[in-house]
Amino acid sequence: MNKIAILCSGGDVSGMNPAIKRFVEYSFNQGLEPYFVYGGYEGLIDNIIKKAVYSDVTGIIHRGGTKIYSARSTRFTEKKYRQIAADNLNALGIDKLIILGGDGSLRGIDIFFQEHNIAFCGIPSTIDNDINGTQYCLGVDTALNVIKMATDNIRDTASSFKRAFVIEVMGRDCGYLALVSALTSGAEMCLIPEIAYDLDSLKKRYLKEVEQGRNYFIAIIAEGLGNTKEISSWFETEIGFESRVTTLGHIQRGGNPTVRERLMAYQFTTYAIDALLSGKRNTVICYNNANFDFKYINEINEKTYEIDKDLLALGKSLLQK
Ligand code: F6P
Repeated sequence: MNKIAILCSGGDVSGMNPAIKRFVEYSFNQGLEPYFVYGGYEGLIDNIIKKAVYSDVTGIIHRGGTKIYSARSTRFTEKKYRQIAADNLNALGIDKLIILGGDGSLRGIDIFFQEHNIAFCGIPSTIDNDINGTQYCLGVDTALNVIKMATDNIRDTASSFKRAFVIEVMGRDCGYLALVSALTSGAEMCLIPEIAYDLDSLKKRYLKEVEQGRNYFIAIIAEGLGNTKEISSWFETEIGFESRVTTLGHIQRGGNPTVRERLMAYQFTTYAIDALLSGKRNTVICYNNANFDFKYINEINEKTYEIDKDLLALGKSLLQK
């Protein structure tokens, strides 16, 4: 029987468990023997690779995290460890891999494929939504909903006081989570690495708004800027508002996967397996303009991700309104 394995690499996301469930069920449906690689590329190197059965994936569709664990592997960046990983797969007769991971994980599999020619399909998975070639990465919708819930709660307390609330969201160097969260939560301020801002003109505007009755501020700041505390102090010294910082941190990575997430996991995984069965050997399943498409791994890795221009324009106008 043809053998296929799945692994999760890098920061976990809500949506990995639904993907793992679909992987097992659709593999059996297609006459494949499914395997789990536990702990990402580390598990590949350490040969923690086990046959999967239906009971492994019962009761996991609603859980964040990943049943088969994830890791950030520095060893996989070394050729000698990639050789060990390939030897382990070859010894088990596994010649197809599904990789759920972010930017770094997809770069890792690119090199591994060039060296060992083991077929794979990547499923973009990172809350940062920063993978070139796809407008959607698994985990993003759940993370955005976690931020939405937190921001709505903060707004309740913000509206009871005359205060500024500065909320730092994840995203590494990418401002996507912060931008979409700001646009959908009515934040007064959104600062992200991709948009230049001028605190002096914001000050003028905010002071005018305070004169006109504004009683609180919600500011959403991308972690990539690294200036959340400074912005909080700025509200105190320049706008005259007591300020509080909330760093949302890793709560953004967990939680019950949303309906959209589960459907995306189902579709990504189904199409990834279809791709391998149809002979595609080195692609990533992408989602663009409401359609799924495949891109070769080198197309994904040749550029860095850029936030959609229209979305950026909305972010700029939020700072100028
Ligand atoms: O890439 C996902 C992510 O959650 C980033 O948003 C964040 O900067 C980073 O991972 C945190 O990494 P770790 O969980 O290793 O601290």
